[in-house]
Amino acid sequence: MRNNRVWATLEQLAQKPEHKDLKHSIADVERMEALTLQCGDLYLDCSKNWLSLQVFEQLQQLAEASDLKASIQKLFNLETVNTSENQAAGHTTLRDPNHQNRKHNLERMKVLAERIKNNKITTAFGKPVKQLVNIGIGGSYLGPRLAIEALTDLQSESQIPVYFAASVDDSLINQLFQSIDIEHSLFCISSKSFGTAETLMNAEAVIEKLKQRPGYLPNDNQSSLMAITAKPERAKAIGINDSMILPFDTTIGGRFSLWSSIGFPIMLAAGSDAFEEMLDGANIMDNHYLETPFDKNMPVVLALIGIWYRNFIGLSGYACLPYDARLRCFPKWLQQLMMESTGKMHNLQGQTIDYPTSPWVFGDHGQLSQHAFFQAFHQGIDALPMDFIGVLDHDSPSQRFLLFNMIAQGAALMSGESHEHIDNHDCPGNKPSTTLLLNSMNPKAVGQLLAMYEHMIYTQSVIWNINCFDQPGVELGKKLAKRIEKHVQENHLDDLPLDPSTQNLIKKVMNHEG
Ligand code: F6P
Repeated sequence: MRNNRVWATLEQLAQKPEHKDLKHSIADVERMEALTLQCGDLYLDCSKNWLSLQVFEQLQQLAEASDLKASIQKLFNLETVNTSENQAAGHTTLRDPNHQNRKHNLERMKVLAERIKNNKITTAFGKPVKQLVNIGIGGSYLGPRLAIEALTDLQSESQIPVYFAASVDDSLINQLFQSIDIEHSLFCISSKSFGTAETLMNAEAVIEKLKQRPGYLPNDNQSSLMAITAKPERAKAIGINDSMILPFDTTIGGRFSLWSSIGFPIMLAAGSDAFEEMLDGANIMDNHYLETPFDKNMPVVLALIGIWYRNFIGLSGYACLPYDARLRCFPKWLQQLMMESTGKMHNLQGQTIDYPTSPWVFGDHGQLSQHAFFQAFHQGIDALPMDFIGVLDHDSPSQRFLLFNMIAQGAALMSGESHEHIDNHDCPGNKPSTTLLLNSMNPKAVGQLLAMYEHMIYTQSVIWNINCFDQPGVELGKKLAKRIEKHVQENHLDDLPLDPSTQNLIKKVMNHEG
């Protein structure tokens, strides 16, 4: 990885100020055209980045030196790219119109969706299903929520409204039960492993509440519960009817699962056609990723820019700023996709690596961000890589306002401003950003957008020589939490080798009398 010649060349280039001088390079129209890309409904302007054409060329050499083309082929050929779990990553097959996985998955989802919409499914209260409550967390929550909010304009009375219960929080569950029509609700336990503590705790709390309600009579013909999981036997074990379980394959990673039956809430809320158009959009991006030369390949260029900042310029943050409230969940989805996929310290050979990988990802709906943290962007002394995301379809003054604000922010960060007499108003400028425009917020564009970032992190994982499809690190915290809980319950906390701070905090919890 680091010992190749290209890496050394990029380290030398990063020391030279001319490669970080936006105010002059921005005037070069030829450079702007070289750093602007198009694919389907997406338009990507990378020209406001600290990126000379010489660096851009070297970054493409780095991709070549990492054998990226062959690795992309491995992904689509369903070879073992998830090395620690010894399996392929199958998400691209779910959007390939010629692949049986897409056909079989859609068939199963549509049958159940049609039965629900035609009142053929009866809740345990003998009522038709009019609402869905998705109980899931991480990739079993963020993808469906993001897509449903993005496609909010498609929701109509014929669709089924979807509510989400993700974090474990009694007040959240109580609040949810206040706002839904319990007897007409179907509770969907979405969990690839069917072993995630928060999801199981929420499911138990919901089942308990249902049992306490008069008229709750679950049987083979009526149920208020369904499951979406790669472990159908675990769902059956808690009494969920076979016909109410949508399975999916273990080769579908949690962060990449919204295209699978995990996306069922999207189908109910936005319609089957919309869900299929999302798949088609992602497939457009798949083909673009497979076939386009690196210098005009959107996921590859975004990936290389991220590596340039992270590994050569030495910036550790990254902000995702969608200037459209329908994408308000997008930063959260991208946080998990990037930080859980590439926040790693071991390479594919199991060795500890000595270079940074995932940046610290944050973001929010752009307009809210301007009134929260843009001050630091403009006058903080260091720079931050960031992606602005806007939607061109605007039939309202407010959407035009959003777009012009977004464009103005990128320009202001780049140009800065100096004030002769009020020097604390000085903005140094030369602050980088990328701007992505979607033609419209239709399902196809949303599918392209999400697939682009999925392939971006896969590209980075290839160059970083890491596995982006597992998440061993998150298990440690979960295991310790379980051990603490067990030792407290069995009253022998002192047997747990804990530091004095942690011991003291646990005792504060145990001794608190609320
Ligand atoms: O955060 C760890 C993780 O395993 C994620 O990768 C996953 O999306 C989430 O927990 C939920 O997992 P499951 O779908 O198995 O409940």
